[in-house]
Amino acid sequence: MLFNARVVAFLLGVSVGGITTAFLSLLSGISPLVLFTAFTLSFSSCFLLVYFSFEYLIVSELNEAYAMLEKLKKKDFKILKRSDKHALSPFKKLNYEIYSYASKKQKEIDQLKKLALYRREFLADVSHELKTPIFAAQGFLHTLIDGAIDDETVRYKFLHKAANSLDGLHRLVEDLFTLSKMEAGILKMNRARFNLYELAQEIIESLNPTADKKEIRLAFSPETCPDAWVWADQARIGQVLTNLIENAIKYGHNGGKVCVSIEDLPYQVALSVEDDGPGISPEHLDRIFERFYRVEKSRSKAKGGSGLGLAIVKHILEAHQSKVLVSSQVAQGTIFSFKLEKPQDQNGEADALPTVFQPSLPVSHGHPSPNLSKPPASIGL
Ligand SMILES: Nc1ncnc2c1ncn2[C@@H]1O[C@H](COP(=O)(O)OP(=O)(O)OP(=O)(O)O)[C@@H](O)[C@H]1O
Ligand SMILES: [Mg+2]
Repeated sequence: MLFNARVVAFLLGVSVGGITTAFLSLLSGISPLVLFTAFTLSFSSCFLLVYFSFEYLIVSELNEAYAMLEKLKKKDFKILKRSDKHALSPFKKLNYEIYSYASKKQKEIDQLKKLALYRREFLADVSHELKTPIFAAQGFLHTLIDGAIDDETVRYKFLHKAANSLDGLHRLVEDLFTLSKMEAGILKMNRARFNLYELAQEIIESLNPTADKKEIRLAFSPETCPDAWVWADQARIGQVLTNLIENAIKYGHNGGKVCVSIEDLPYQVALSVEDDGPGISPEHLDRIFERFYRVEKSRSKAKGGSGLGLAIVKHILEAHQSKVLVSSQVAQGTIFSFKLEKPQDQNGEADALPTVFQPSLPVSHGHPSPNLSKPPASIGL
């Protein structure tokens, strides 16, 4: 580079030396040796001063800024040094600011890209899920219009099938609506004091006929605590329990068993639903809570699931400042569990609740699994 620190220092040195010598030469009685010495001294001191200040204060900092920009181009955000934030040099501070700003913007861009992909996938999933029941109902109704209506043997069968498809469509739209309201934070939980044991008992009774069809034994565990008062939205927790128990029946083996247990903890009540079904392998465990995610698409779909149930469960429990934990082992079974806060005590005073909500412990701690011999893969959402 022609205009580098050395050239600038040299030019300035020459001009300062030249001016000094010219000024001295105007005075009488100054020998050429003195003029030469004055020139050399002023030139060298000016050169050194300008050169070092340029080189160390400006050029090296600018080079560092260039190197940083190169790294930014390559999206390398690892060199950000916290100490530079409080550095004395304004260049270092500027570098730090540019760098942290760029890394923040890059994170935002990555997030937006992820969201765009998520939206595309979601749209594709929704249209796919809606297509199936609509096509089925459309097919049955058109067949009836095209003449099958006169055939008494198929008339009611086709009408029932069309109605079933439309019922499925209605459920799907309801689920999607609930999910979107929950994600937007519009859906508020109507918390009240209720007995979780009684709610679970009602749901078990209503699902017993479904379990009977697969000869599945659905019951409470013997240690279950019947005095299980909680402070939560009863209808929403009912939805959570229904989906967890329905899943255990739907994906469990014929002739298996599903066990619901309720445990009384110091500030919370813990509930778990355990089955001895096929289990869920670790690579699927953290994805089953995504919308429309099914472990085996064809098998789950044949069982009538749209893959929204666990996404709703996760949101409902999050709205209760709780989370759903899953622990599973392939070919052995699965346990889903969650905890709910206890209500205030009888005198209307708050129970000695901890100031910070206690996050749920991993399933394997609070809920030993007699059926799972090896340590299960578990995940908490
Ligand atoms: N107890 C279980 N045992 C084995 N696999 C399970 C169990 N519970 C859930 N899964 C798997 O997780 C997937 C997601 O479950 P989810 O409840 O979200 O959807 P679904 O049951 O397919 O449909 P929906 O609940 O909306 O009717 C299921 O499709 C199934 O593959
Ligand atoms: Mg389900």
